[in-house]
Amino acid sequence: MEYPLFEIPRLGGGMFVGLVAIIHVVIAHLAVGAGLFIAVSHTWAFKRGDALMLDFLYRYGRFLILLSFVSGAVTGVGIWVTISLASPAGTSALIHLFVWGWAIEWVFFLLEIVAGYVYYYGWHRLTPRRHLAVAWLYFVGAFMSLVVINGIITFMLTPGTWQPPGGSSYDAQRAFFAAFLNPTCWPSLLVRTLSCMAIAGISVAVVANWVGSYSGEQRERIGRAGAWMLAPIALMVPGAVWYFSSVSSTARDFALGGSVAMTMFFAFGVVSSLYIAGHTYWGLIRNRPCVHLQTSILLLAIAAVATGAMEFVREGIRKPHIISQYMYSNQILCDRSTREAIDRDGILAHARFAYPPDMVLEEVYRLPLKDIGRYVFNAECRACHEPGGTNDIAPLIHDASRELVTGITNELGRLKHFMPPFMGTDLERRAIVEYQLFLAGGELYQPPPGEGWRGTATRPSSLTRVDSREVWR
Ligand code: HEC
Repeated sequence: MEYPLFEIPRLGGGMFVGLVAIIHVVIAHLAVGAGLFIAVSHTWAFKRGDALMLDFLYRYGRFLILLSFVSGAVTGVGIWVTISLASPAGTSALIHLFVWGWAIEWVFFLLEIVAGYVYYYGWHRLTPRRHLAVAWLYFVGAFMSLVVINGIITFMLTPGTWQPPGGSSYDAQRAFFAAFLNPTCWPSLLVRTLSCMAIAGISVAVVANWVGSYSGEQRERIGRAGAWMLAPIALMVPGAVWYFSSVSSTARDFALGGSVAMTMFFAFGVVSSLYIAGHTYWGLIRNRPCVHLQTSILLLAIAAVATGAMEFVREGIRKPHIISQYMYSNQILCDRSTREAIDRDGILAHARFAYPPDMVLEEVYRLPLKDIGRYVFNAECRACHEPGGTNDIAPLIHDASRELVTGITNELGRLKHFMPPFMGTDLERRAIVEYQLFLAGGELYQPPPGEGWRGTATRPSSLTRVDSREVWR
């Protein structure tokens, strides 16, 4: 907790990251799948002199640049901004461990973007062979950037044999490969590749229908070429089984019934993937009708939402960690010595940014209990509970008694596996109970006019409502 607290009212940090990341993931998957489609169809069309397909590839390339390059790059940078504001310690840990991985990823991303532009502007300028080579370079760049990112993301859920830094025997290179080649690295790459292909395959039908000048027959032929990208979606089932057999049993339980929200999102992802597979098989490959613009956009939307749901599940089942077994979602390290230090000194002694900059610790500890509790909450709970917003505490405890809330707080990590245990002194423990009861009273903290920028880092004298539960007077 050595970093400032960045507050996003109502939404909370996690949702803020999630919103940007999910948009980015869908676009990035599209860009990778499109790379494969372009490389394979260009090779095919080049060999057969298929003028229709070549004409389509020209238009499809423009769609790719306009949509995915621009919004993909903007949201990609957006992810860095959001994660480093919402989880600076987690981001720092990933940068330290994977610094060369990020650098390699960046080089592949650059290759992808440059090759994409050269491909698009190379029509009628490059020799056909060179043009084809550029198409494959685009695919290699796009796919390899997926490979690198996939290793890093999967590490966060399943660190495998990786050992955290510490001690003289720490070998950065060995740590890198242990972390990168973690248990879900390959199954996740398989599932992601299939999802890239599916999203891109559907986007082919969208673009073919969008271009007004194609006849029904031509649209059908292009749509079917795209539909073959969806055929391997059947491998999604063994891929998902492989993936879930590689995650920890706690994480698996969350998705398979342990957490209602996770299970519902997971079920939604599975059902919509099956629907897309069925629709593709009967609608596009077997019966060969012409898929209309509306239908193809609807399919694309379902695929995008299904991808988002699956990302949500992957993020959700990692709770209560940012990096499993290493760092909790509230950026506190999971090791014993950290916990002992916090229990001994108090969390606020280790979280300078959780209370106002113009107060010293002794002053904070002299405040009413619920005000101390708010700062403790900032440090330990706010990563997942935004007062008055995402996963708000108030409706969760509703009108629970002080005894019950104390009981839940004492058993946080044990009762509910998706939460880290409470850490801190007895005073802080009592304080956080009072603050939760205060929140359940329904009153939000109002910063006085002109001090809004400081958010909760404002002196608590301006709390506006005295709740009947407040007992410290
Ligand atoms: C890793 C994310 C995370 C962190 C950190 C976290 N919580 Fe939670 N908490 C959750 C989730 C998820 C739920 C379940 C919400 C639901 O059931 O809809 C929950 C539920 C609760 C509940 C209701 C429990 C019940 O029995 O229904 C309480 C009380 C609570 N949290 C208190 C806290 C306190 C206090 C802290 C900080 C010391 C904290 N939480 C930190 C994720 C978190």
